[in-house]
Amino acid sequence: MATLETHVDGLTLPNPFVIGSGPPGTNAKVIGKAFDEGWGAVISKTISLDASKVVNVAPRYARMRAQQSREVIGWENIELISDRPFETWLDEFKQIKDKYPDRVLIASIMEEYNKDAWVEIVERTQDTGVDAFELNFSCPHGLPERRMGAAMGQDPELLEEVSGWVCAASKIPVWAKMTPNITHIEDPGRAALRAGCHGLSAINTILSVMGVDLDTLRPEPTVEGYTVPGGYSCKAVRPIALRMVMELATMMFGGGCGAPIPEGDEPAIKGEFPDRSLSAIGGVETGEDAAQFILMGAHTVQVCTGVMIHGYKLAGELSRGLLAFMEKHGFETLEDFRGHALKYFTTHAELVRRQAEVKAAEKAARAGMVTKDAAWEGDSFVEQSDRLVSND
Ligand SMILES: Cc1cc2nc3c(=O)[nH]c(=O)nc-3n(C[C@H](O)[C@H](O)[C@H](O)COP(=O)(O)O)c2cc1C
Repeated sequence: MATLETHVDGLTLPNPFVIGSGPPGTNAKVIGKAFDEGWGAVISKTISLDASKVVNVAPRYARMRAQQSREVIGWENIELISDRPFETWLDEFKQIKDKYPDRVLIASIMEEYNKDAWVEIVERTQDTGVDAFELNFSCPHGLPERRMGAAMGQDPELLEEVSGWVCAASKIPVWAKMTPNITHIEDPGRAALRAGCHGLSAINTILSVMGVDLDTLRPEPTVEGYTVPGGYSCKAVRPIALRMVMELATMMFGGGCGAPIPEGDEPAIKGEFPDRSLSAIGGVETGEDAAQFILMGAHTVQVCTGVMIHGYKLAGELSRGLLAFMEKHGFETLEDFRGHALKYFTTHAELVRRQAEVKAAEKAARAGMVTKDAAWEGDSFVEQSDRLVSND
């Protein structure tokens, strides 16, 4: 009987489905609802020590729909981190852990470039009994103006220093959440793991402009006629998230990218951090989407926008879809297929070489030429020999 039970960084989750930081984990009420509906873990909305500096605007979302079906495929937000007071969050973390002692609650935290502030937020938050931290090094709008979020995540040196402060103060696992708004996501990933983070999460939202209203000539979402570029999420980002998770997983666990496909099971590239964890995020709405991220090396799979579209009951659908995939292939546990697809990435030159090899073999077969010793036949032996002669 296949199981979805997930073991990561000493934590046990009933399944790999995690509420990603955002509106679906924004207070004790909704976090409780997520646990009641069976989510494997919840990551809170990102919190900071001084919420009075966080002022949200409305509207702050804009959606992209498919032309025919009207299905939502892309979602832009210009939402900031939580505007709720730090003390309120500490109370609520305690309440949630009292009510759900066996469920995994992860606090997403963010601070300015100040060691005392990071140490304070880590120490006071972990005293509530939360199970792990996720460091938000990746919010692409608003916070970078204060050198927070993506501004930190785009600077591996700064990120390594801050991760080092957090890891020294933290007694629980620490995941660093990566920004996709960077050329080589492995660089900040490597910096966070070097500093001692237990795992990486990827991706946060992709910096975007949803569109321009052709009547008003103003970009969307419009607040008093103006806007800022925001973070893009939902289905449309999944291929980009898969690519970035593949790049991180190859760096961490090894894989075939950038080198010929190995003949055996040995990856062509050796992983630099084989014992650390990876949490994938970006456009997941089905168990099949999640299976693809696990095949790409992820231990857990986060969902944020999908919950805003389908509600908390999505957890059941995700579990059913992933179990059906596992049963089809005879996989008993997630480890039976985690990272399986990584070895099939190679260089373009290798694709060309493989294709030429297959075409040459097909051409020879069409001409009836023997290319392998096993193809010799006793009855047509002489004809087969004749076809291999080039100078008659
Ligand atoms: C409205 C909204 C608010 C978000 N707020 C946060 C946040 O506070 N902290 C954070 O780390 N990520 C935040 N995110 C990013 C998500 O956690 C996630 O990384 C991203 O949306 C991609 O995943 P998805 O396609 O499943 O939404 C937010 C996303 C949305 C849509």
